[in-house]
Amino acid sequence: MTSPSGASSSAGDARRLAAASLAAGDPTGWFEDLYAESRAGRAEVPWDVPAPSAHLRALDLPAGDGRRALVVGCGPGRDAEYVAALGYRVTAFDISATAIGLARERHPGTTVDYVVADLLDPPPPWGQAFDLVLESNNVQALPASIRATAIAAVGTFVAPGGTLIVLAAATTRIDSDGDGPPWPLTRAEVDAFATGDLRPVSVTRVDAVGTTLPTRWSALFRR
Ligand SMILES: C[S@@+](CC[C@H](N)C(=O)[O-])C[C@H]1O[C@@H](n2cnc3c(N)ncnc32)[C@H](O)[C@@H]1O
Repeated sequence: MTSPSGASSSAGDARRLAAASLAAGDPTGWFEDLYAESRAGRAEVPWDVPAPSAHLRALDLPAGDGRRALVVGCGPGRDAEYVAALGYRVTAFDISATAIGLARERHPGTTVDYVVADLLDPPPPWGQAFDLVLESNNVQALPASIRATAIAAVGTFVAPGGTLIVLAAATTRIDSDGDGPPWPLTRAEVDAFATGDLRPVSVTRVDAVGTTLPTRWSALFRR
């Protein structure tokens, strides 16, 4: 797999654990396995890099001024901390308890509320509760069997007047690429984030030169 920073890293650990998890009928269990193995020094988490997403920073978001933001699949918190530094009141969640533990340890003075939660079964109070929602690099790590459900769930968090940011690897194929994770998103999958009265503001293909996933989506939606 390629790290979100664009640095090349081993796909082996993630793909090995993902394959075992998928074969066992558990499409998301491998995330906790990977973080736990990494913590024990037996694996590498390819996306665990210190810098916030370059594609998020390129959006040059306005100050949060205390508005609420939700960071989906936050991992150890690199993007959640960036959004918090912009002045948002951030809730950030991940299905992996080990990832959330790492986030809290790495950012001891943080204002971010790090929570263990499942995108496929989110807390009901989060419905239309956030002025900014960030989905970055998560759906591309989910297999076809749960992708449509995950995409639809992301949109439910956006408050009236709020913004959804979707950042993901892109494919020009009609179906997702075979080998993964990651499985880059098709244009149709990006368009599918516009559920209900959530409307696309911009859907842009951007280059990530020098990476093994050289084309990406940077998309904004508003309710
Ligand atoms: C490829 S990583 C990307 C992490 C982070 N967004 C980033 O760009 O650094 C996908 C993350 O989504 C989390 N995740 C996967 N399925 C999830 C689910 N159903 N609910 C919440 N988090 C999930 C994983 O544990 C992992 O931290």
